[in-house]
Amino acid sequence: MSALMSKIMETAKSLYKHLVLAEGEDQRIADAAKMIAAEKMAKLTLLGNKEKVLEALHGEIEGVDIIDPKLSPKKEEYANILYEQRKSKGMTLEKAIELTENPLYFGTLMVKSGDADGMVAGAINATGDVLRPALQIIKTKPGIKTVSSCFIMCLPEGSPYGENGVMVFGDCAVMPDPNAEQLADIAMASADSARKIAEIEPKVALLSFSTKGSACHPLVDKVTEAVKILADKNPDFAFDGELQVDAAIVPKVATLKAYGSPVGGNANVLIFPDLQAGNIGYKLAQRLGNALAIGPICQGLDKPVNDLSRGCSADDVVGVVAITALQARG
Ligand code: ACO
Repeated sequence: MSALMSKIMETAKSLYKHLVLAEGEDQRIADAAKMIAAEKMAKLTLLGNKEKVLEALHGEIEGVDIIDPKLSPKKEEYANILYEQRKSKGMTLEKAIELTENPLYFGTLMVKSGDADGMVAGAINATGDVLRPALQIIKTKPGIKTVSSCFIMCLPEGSPYGENGVMVFGDCAVMPDPNAEQLADIAMASADSARKIAEIEPKVALLSFSTKGSACHPLVDKVTEAVKILADKNPDFAFDGELQVDAAIVPKVATLKAYGSPVGGNANVLIFPDLQAGNIGYKLAQRLGNALAIGPICQGLDKPVNDLSRGCSADDVVGVVAITALQARG
Protein backbone atom coordinates (compact mmCIF):
# COMPACT_ATOMS: atom_id res chain seq x y z
CA MET A 1 0.00 0.00 0.00
CA SER A 2 1.25 3.51 -0.83
CA ALA A 3 2.21 5.88 1.96
CA LEU A 4 -0.56 8.23 0.81
CA MET A 5 -3.20 5.49 1.01
CA SER A 6 -2.09 4.58 4.56
CA LYS A 7 -2.41 8.24 5.53
CA ILE A 8 -5.89 8.47 3.96
CA MET A 9 -7.00 5.44 5.98
CA GLU A 10 -5.64 6.87 9.22
CA THR A 11 -7.54 10.12 8.57
CA ALA A 12 -10.73 8.15 7.76
CA LYS A 13 -10.43 6.38 11.13
CA SER A 14 -10.21 9.68 12.96
CA LEU A 15 -13.36 10.89 11.17
CA TYR A 16 -15.45 7.70 11.70
CA LYS A 17 -18.11 8.71 9.13
CA HIS A 18 -21.30 6.76 8.41
CA LEU A 19 -21.16 5.34 4.88
CA VAL A 20 -23.63 3.24 2.96
CA LEU A 21 -22.51 0.34 0.75
CA ALA A 22 -25.36 -0.31 -1.65
CA GLU A 23 -24.25 -3.77 -2.78
CA GLY A 24 -24.20 -5.54 0.60
CA GLU A 25 -24.88 -9.00 -0.81
CA ASP A 26 -21.63 -9.00 -2.82
CA GLN A 27 -18.90 -11.04 -1.12
CA ARG A 28 -16.18 -8.41 -1.78
CA ILE A 29 -18.33 -5.72 -0.17
CA ALA A 30 -19.01 -7.95 2.85
CA ASP A 31 -15.30 -8.78 3.18
CA ALA A 32 -14.42 -5.08 2.96
CA ALA A 33 -17.09 -4.26 5.57
CA LYS A 34 -15.47 -6.73 7.98
CA MET A 35 -12.05 -5.12 7.49
CA ILE A 36 -13.48 -1.60 7.92
CA ALA A 37 -15.37 -2.62 11.07
CA ALA A 38 -12.28 -4.33 12.52
CA GLU A 39 -10.25 -1.15 11.93
CA LYS A 40 -13.12 1.06 13.21
CA MET A 41 -12.61 3.16 10.08
CA ALA A 42 -16.30 3.95 9.46
CA LYS A 43 -19.78 3.09 10.61
CA LEU A 44 -21.39 1.17 7.77
CA THR A 45 -24.84 0.39 6.48
CA LEU A 46 -25.01 -2.46 3.99
CA LEU A 47 -28.06 -2.61 1.72
CA GLY A 48 -29.66 -5.81 0.48
CA ASN A 49 -31.66 -8.82 1.54
CA LYS A 50 -30.87 -9.22 5.23
CA GLU A 51 -30.37 -13.00 5.08
CA LYS A 52 -28.07 -12.78 2.07
CA VAL A 53 -26.02 -9.95 3.56
CA LEU A 54 -25.67 -11.83 6.86
CA GLU A 55 -24.57 -14.91 4.96
CA ALA A 56 -21.86 -12.92 3.16
CA LEU A 57 -20.78 -11.36 6.48
CA HIS A 58 -20.91 -14.72 8.30
CA GLY A 59 -23.09 -13.19 11.02
CA GLU A 60 -23.76 -9.86 12.70
CA ILE A 61 -20.86 -7.41 13.05
CA GLU A 62 -20.57 -4.49 15.44
CA GLY A 63 -20.58 -1.18 13.57
CA VAL A 64 -22.32 -2.67 10.49
CA ASP A 65 -26.09 -2.20 10.05
CA ILE A 66 -28.11 -3.96 7.38
CA ILE A 67 -31.14 -2.43 5.65
CA ASP A 68 -33.34 -4.08 3.07
CA PRO A 69 -34.68 -1.15 1.00
CA LYS A 70 -37.82 -3.14 0.14
CA LEU A 71 -38.75 -3.54 3.83
CA SER A 72 -37.42 -0.28 5.28
CA PRO A 73 -39.87 1.94 7.22
CA LYS A 74 -38.00 4.88 5.61
CA LYS A 75 -39.10 3.83 2.11
CA GLU A 76 -42.11 6.15 1.97
CA GLU A 77 -40.20 9.15 3.35
CA TYR A 78 -37.40 8.67 0.81
CA ALA A 79 -39.86 8.11 -2.06
CA ASN A 80 -41.49 11.44 -1.19
CA ILE A 81 -38.11 13.20 -1.30
CA LEU A 82 -37.45 11.65 -4.72
CA TYR A 83 -40.94 12.50 -5.97
CA GLU A 84 -40.69 16.16 -4.83
CA GLN A 85 -37.25 16.52 -6.36
CA ARG A 86 -38.08 14.94 -9.74
CA LYS A 87 -41.80 15.63 -10.29
CA SER A 88 -40.98 18.49 -12.69
CA LYS A 89 -39.10 15.83 -14.74
CA GLY A 90 -42.15 13.56 -14.92
CA MET A 91 -41.58 11.48 -11.76
CA THR A 92 -44.74 9.97 -10.27
CA LEU A 93 -45.11 8.82 -6.66
CA GLU A 94 -45.61 5.21 -7.83
CA LYS A 95 -42.37 5.33 -9.83
CA ALA A 96 -40.56 6.99 -6.91
CA ILE A 97 -41.65 4.16 -4.57
CA GLU A 98 -40.45 1.58 -7.11
CA LEU A 99 -37.08 3.32 -7.56
CA THR A 100 -36.59 3.65 -3.80
CA GLU A 101 -36.54 -0.15 -3.56
CA ASN A 102 -33.42 -0.08 -5.78
CA PRO A 103 -30.43 0.00 -3.38
CA LEU A 104 -28.61 2.58 -5.55
CA TYR A 105 -31.53 5.02 -5.18
CA PHE A 106 -32.17 4.07 -1.52
CA GLY A 107 -28.51 4.64 -0.63
CA THR A 108 -28.40 7.94 -2.51
CA LEU A 109 -31.55 9.06 -0.67
CA MET A 110 -29.99 8.09 2.68
CA VAL A 111 -27.11 10.42 1.83
CA LYS A 112 -29.39 13.18 0.52
CA SER A 113 -31.52 13.10 3.69
CA GLY A 114 -28.50 13.13 6.02
CA ASP A 115 -29.02 9.54 7.26
CA ALA A 116 -25.56 8.64 5.90
CA ASP A 117 -22.50 10.74 5.05
CA GLY A 118 -21.66 9.11 1.70
CA MET A 119 -22.21 6.09 -0.53
CA VAL A 120 -19.97 3.61 -2.33
CA ALA A 121 -21.24 1.27 -5.08
CA GLY A 122 -20.25 -0.09 -8.45
CA ALA A 123 -18.90 -3.57 -7.64
CA ILE A 124 -21.84 -5.05 -9.56
CA ASN A 125 -23.37 -1.93 -11.18
CA ALA A 126 -22.17 0.14 -14.15
CA THR A 127 -20.75 3.68 -13.63
CA GLY A 128 -23.80 5.36 -15.19
CA ASP A 129 -26.22 3.46 -12.90
CA VAL A 130 -24.24 4.47 -9.79
CA LEU A 131 -23.77 8.12 -10.77
CA ARG A 132 -27.20 8.89 -12.30
CA PRO A 133 -29.14 8.85 -8.98
CA ALA A 134 -26.41 11.04 -7.41
CA LEU A 135 -26.56 13.49 -10.33
CA GLN A 136 -30.35 13.61 -10.12
CA ILE A 137 -30.81 13.69 -6.34
CA ILE A 138 -27.67 14.92 -4.54
CA LYS A 139 -26.62 17.32 -7.31
CA THR A 140 -23.58 19.58 -7.28
CA LYS A 141 -21.86 21.63 -4.59
CA PRO A 142 -22.79 25.32 -4.46
CA GLY A 143 -20.69 27.24 -7.05
CA ILE A 144 -20.08 24.14 -9.20
CA LYS A 145 -22.37 22.88 -11.96
CA THR A 146 -20.34 19.87 -13.09
CA VAL A 147 -19.76 16.47 -11.56
CA SER A 148 -16.44 15.05 -12.70
CA SER A 149 -13.71 12.77 -11.41
CA CYS A 150 -10.04 12.67 -10.67
CA PHE A 151 -7.34 10.12 -10.10
CA ILE A 152 -4.61 10.58 -7.53
CA MET A 153 -1.46 9.34 -9.26
CA CYS A 154 1.36 8.07 -7.01
CA LEU A 155 4.51 7.94 -9.13
CA PRO A 156 7.37 5.56 -8.35
CA GLU A 157 9.68 6.60 -5.50
CA GLY A 158 12.23 9.20 -6.54
CA SER A 159 10.07 10.63 -9.35
CA PRO A 160 10.84 14.32 -9.94
CA TYR A 161 7.20 15.07 -10.84
CA GLY A 162 4.35 16.31 -8.68
CA GLU A 163 4.57 16.79 -4.93
CA ASN A 164 6.93 14.02 -3.84
CA GLY A 165 5.58 11.97 -6.73
CA VAL A 166 1.89 12.68 -6.01
CA MET A 167 -0.23 14.27 -8.77
CA VAL A 168 -3.94 14.69 -9.47
CA PHE A 169 -5.38 14.08 -12.95
CA GLY A 170 -8.88 15.29 -13.91
CA ASP A 171 -11.25 14.40 -15.50
CA CYS A 172 -10.39 10.86 -16.58
CA ALA A 173 -13.68 9.02 -16.05
CA VAL A 174 -16.94 11.02 -16.05
CA MET A 175 -17.45 14.06 -18.32
CA PRO A 176 -17.00 12.98 -21.98
CA ASP A 177 -16.74 16.37 -23.71
CA PRO A 178 -16.68 19.29 -21.26
CA ASN A 179 -17.21 22.83 -22.56
CA ALA A 180 -15.04 25.72 -21.30
CA GLU A 181 -17.24 26.40 -18.28
CA GLN A 182 -17.31 22.72 -17.34
CA LEU A 183 -13.53 22.50 -17.78
CA ALA A 184 -13.13 25.38 -15.31
CA ASP A 185 -15.40 23.47 -12.88
CA ILE A 186 -13.24 20.35 -13.31
CA ALA A 187 -10.16 22.45 -12.46
CA MET A 188 -11.85 23.84 -9.32
CA ALA A 189 -13.00 20.41 -8.17
CA SER A 190 -9.65 18.74 -8.90
CA ALA A 191 -7.82 21.43 -6.90
CA ASP A 192 -10.22 20.79 -4.02
CA SER A 193 -9.57 17.02 -4.23
CA ALA A 194 -5.82 17.69 -4.30
CA ARG A 195 -6.10 19.57 -1.01
CA LYS A 196 -8.65 17.38 0.77
CA ILE A 197 -7.57 13.91 -0.32
CA ALA A 198 -4.01 14.04 -1.66
CA GLU A 199 -3.13 16.77 0.88
CA ILE A 200 -1.02 18.73 -1.60
CA GLU A 201 -1.20 22.44 -2.40
CA PRO A 202 -2.63 22.53 -5.94
CA LYS A 203 -0.68 23.95 -8.88
CA VAL A 204 -3.14 23.48 -11.71
CA ALA A 205 -2.27 23.23 -15.41
CA LEU A 206 -5.02 23.23 -18.05
CA LEU A 207 -3.55 21.06 -20.77
CA SER A 208 -3.67 21.35 -24.56
CA PHE A 209 -1.56 20.55 -27.60
CA SER A 210 -0.62 24.25 -27.56
CA THR A 211 1.42 26.36 -25.10
CA LYS A 212 0.51 30.03 -24.71
CA GLY A 213 -0.71 30.53 -28.27
CA SER A 214 1.76 28.29 -30.08
CA ALA A 215 -1.15 26.78 -32.05
CA CYS A 216 -4.49 28.19 -33.24
CA HIS A 217 -7.50 25.88 -33.21
CA PRO A 218 -11.02 25.86 -31.74
CA LEU A 219 -9.91 23.01 -29.42
CA VAL A 220 -7.22 25.32 -28.02
CA ASP A 221 -9.74 28.18 -27.72
CA LYS A 222 -11.86 25.99 -25.45
CA VAL A 223 -8.95 25.65 -23.02
CA THR A 224 -7.98 29.34 -23.07
CA GLU A 225 -11.65 30.23 -22.49
CA ALA A 226 -11.70 27.84 -19.50
CA VAL A 227 -8.62 29.60 -18.09
CA LYS A 228 -10.43 32.97 -18.38
CA ILE A 229 -13.54 31.57 -16.65
CA LEU A 230 -11.33 30.17 -13.89
CA ALA A 231 -9.60 33.56 -13.48
CA ASP A 232 -13.02 35.23 -13.10
CA LYS A 233 -13.77 32.85 -10.23
CA ASN A 234 -10.63 34.15 -8.49
CA PRO A 235 -9.66 30.76 -7.03
CA ASP A 236 -7.25 30.49 -4.09
CA PHE A 237 -4.76 28.27 -5.94
CA ALA A 238 -2.12 28.74 -8.63
CA PHE A 239 -3.18 27.84 -12.18
CA ASP A 240 -2.27 28.45 -15.79
CA GLY A 241 -3.05 27.36 -19.35
CA GLU A 242 -3.13 26.55 -22.06
CA LEU A 243 0.00 24.44 -21.54
CA GLN A 244 1.39 21.35 -23.22
CA VAL A 245 2.06 18.62 -20.70
CA ASP A 246 5.87 18.97 -21.00
CA ALA A 247 5.65 22.71 -20.33
CA ALA A 248 3.43 21.92 -17.35
CA ILE A 249 5.72 19.40 -15.63
CA VAL A 250 9.30 19.78 -16.95
CA PRO A 251 11.07 22.91 -15.57
CA LYS A 252 13.51 23.17 -18.53
CA VAL A 253 10.69 23.04 -21.08
CA ALA A 254 8.64 25.53 -19.08
CA THR A 255 11.55 27.99 -19.19
CA LEU A 256 11.57 27.74 -22.99
CA LYS A 257 7.85 27.59 -23.72
CA ALA A 258 6.04 29.16 -20.76
CA TYR A 259 8.50 31.53 -19.10
CA GLY A 260 6.98 33.20 -16.05
CA SER A 261 4.08 30.78 -15.80
CA PRO A 262 2.97 30.42 -12.14
CA VAL A 263 2.77 26.64 -12.48
CA GLY A 264 4.89 25.85 -15.57
CA GLY A 265 7.38 23.05 -14.88
CA ASN A 266 5.88 22.39 -11.43
CA ALA A 267 2.22 21.57 -12.01
CA ASN A 268 0.84 18.84 -9.75
CA VAL A 269 -2.81 18.95 -10.93
CA LEU A 270 -3.27 18.21 -14.64
CA ILE A 271 -6.61 19.08 -16.25
CA PHE A 272 -7.19 17.24 -19.52
CA PRO A 273 -9.25 18.93 -22.26
CA ASP A 274 -11.68 16.00 -22.62
CA LEU A 275 -12.31 12.45 -21.49
CA GLN A 276 -10.45 10.84 -24.38
CA ALA A 277 -7.24 12.67 -23.40
CA GLY A 278 -7.83 12.17 -19.67
CA ASN A 279 -8.62 8.48 -19.80
CA ILE A 280 -5.71 7.76 -22.14
CA GLY A 281 -3.39 10.01 -20.12
CA TYR A 282 -3.93 8.33 -16.76
CA LYS A 283 -3.66 4.84 -18.23
CA LEU A 284 -0.35 5.75 -19.92
CA ALA A 285 1.06 7.05 -16.63
CA GLN A 286 -0.19 3.90 -14.91
CA ARG A 287 1.06 1.38 -17.48
CA LEU A 288 4.20 3.03 -18.92
CA GLY A 289 5.14 5.11 -15.88
CA ASN A 290 4.31 2.50 -13.22
CA ALA A 291 2.15 5.00 -11.36
CA LEU A 292 -0.40 3.82 -8.83
CA ALA A 293 -3.77 5.26 -9.90
CA ILE A 294 -6.15 5.86 -6.98
CA GLY A 295 -9.65 6.45 -8.32
CA PRO A 296 -11.75 7.39 -10.11
CA ILE A 297 -12.76 9.73 -7.30
CA CYS A 298 -16.05 11.43 -8.02
CA GLN A 299 -15.92 15.18 -7.32
CA GLY A 300 -18.26 18.17 -7.48
CA LEU A 301 -21.23 16.40 -5.80
CA ASP A 302 -22.73 18.13 -2.78
CA LYS A 303 -22.23 14.92 -0.77
CA PRO A 304 -19.86 12.09 -1.72
CA VAL A 305 -20.79 9.09 -3.85
CA ASN A 306 -18.03 6.96 -5.35
CA ASP A 307 -18.06 4.38 -8.08
CA LEU A 308 -16.09 1.12 -7.80
CA SER A 309 -14.67 -0.80 -10.70
CA ARG A 310 -16.60 -4.03 -11.32
CA GLY A 311 -13.23 -5.79 -11.15
CA CYS A 312 -12.53 -4.39 -7.67
CA SER A 313 -11.16 -6.42 -4.76
CA ALA A 314 -12.22 -6.11 -1.12
CA ASP A 315 -9.01 -4.07 -0.51
CA ASP A 316 -10.02 -1.66 -3.30
CA VAL A 317 -13.41 -1.20 -1.63
CA VAL A 318 -11.70 -0.35 1.70
CA GLY A 319 -9.62 2.31 -0.10
CA VAL A 320 -12.62 3.90 -1.80
CA VAL A 321 -14.54 3.91 1.49
CA ALA A 322 -11.63 5.73 3.17
CA ILE A 323 -11.54 8.35 0.39
CA THR A 324 -15.32 8.80 0.62
CA ALA A 325 -14.97 9.42 4.36
CA LEU A 326 -12.44 12.20 3.67
CA GLN A 327 -14.76 13.78 1.11
CA ALA A 328 -17.59 13.69 3.66
CA ARG A 329 -15.64 16.23 5.77
CA GLY A 330 -17.28 18.84 3.50
N1 ACO B 1 -22.43 16.98 -13.94
C1 ACO B 1 -23.60 17.45 -13.45
N2 ACO B 1 -24.81 17.00 -13.85
C2 ACO B 1 -24.82 16.04 -14.80
C3 ACO B 1 -23.64 15.51 -15.37
C4 ACO B 1 -22.40 16.01 -14.90
N3 ACO B 1 -21.23 15.56 -15.32
N4 ACO B 1 -23.97 14.55 -16.26
C5 ACO B 1 -25.33 14.49 -16.27
N5 ACO B 1 -25.83 15.39 -15.39
C6 ACO B 1 -27.22 15.61 -15.03
C7 ACO B 1 -28.10 15.88 -16.22
O1 ACO B 1 -28.18 17.25 -16.46
C8 ACO B 1 -29.40 15.29 -15.76
O2 ACO B 1 -30.03 16.19 -14.88
P1 ACO B 1 -31.63 16.29 -14.84
O3 ACO B 1 -32.17 14.91 -15.07
O4 ACO B 1 -31.93 16.84 -13.49
O5 ACO B 1 -31.98 17.19 -15.98
C9 ACO B 1 -28.99 14.09 -14.90
O6 ACO B 1 -27.66 14.38 -14.47
C10 ACO B 1 -29.00 12.77 -15.63
O7 ACO B 1 -28.38 13.00 -16.89
P2 ACO B 1 -28.26 11.92 -18.00
O8 ACO B 1 -27.90 12.62 -19.26
O9 ACO B 1 -29.48 11.06 -18.01
O10 ACO B 1 -27.06 11.07 -17.44
P3 ACO B 1 -26.17 10.19 -18.34
O11 ACO B 1 -26.94 9.01 -18.77
O12 ACO B 1 -25.49 10.99 -19.38
O13 ACO B 1 -25.08 9.72 -17.30
C11 ACO B 1 -22.77 9.83 -16.87
C12 ACO B 1 -24.09 10.58 -16.82
C13 ACO B 1 -22.98 8.45 -16.38
C14 ACO B 1 -21.78 10.49 -15.94
C15 ACO B 1 -22.25 9.83 -18.34
O14 ACO B 1 -21.78 11.09 -18.65
C16 ACO B 1 -21.19 8.81 -18.62
O15 ACO B 1 -21.51 7.66 -18.91
N6 ACO B 1 -19.87 9.22 -18.57
C17 ACO B 1 -18.77 8.38 -18.97
C18 ACO B 1 -18.52 7.29 -17.96
C19 ACO B 1 -17.50 6.33 -18.51
O16 ACO B 1 -17.82 5.48 -19.30
N7 ACO B 1 -16.23 6.52 -18.10
C20 ACO B 1 -15.09 5.82 -18.61
C21 ACO B 1 -14.80 4.56 -17.90
S1 ACO B 1 -14.34 4.77 -16.22
C22 ACO B 1 -12.65 4.36 -16.14
O17 ACO B 1 -11.99 4.14 -17.10
C23 ACO B 1 -12.07 4.35 -14.80
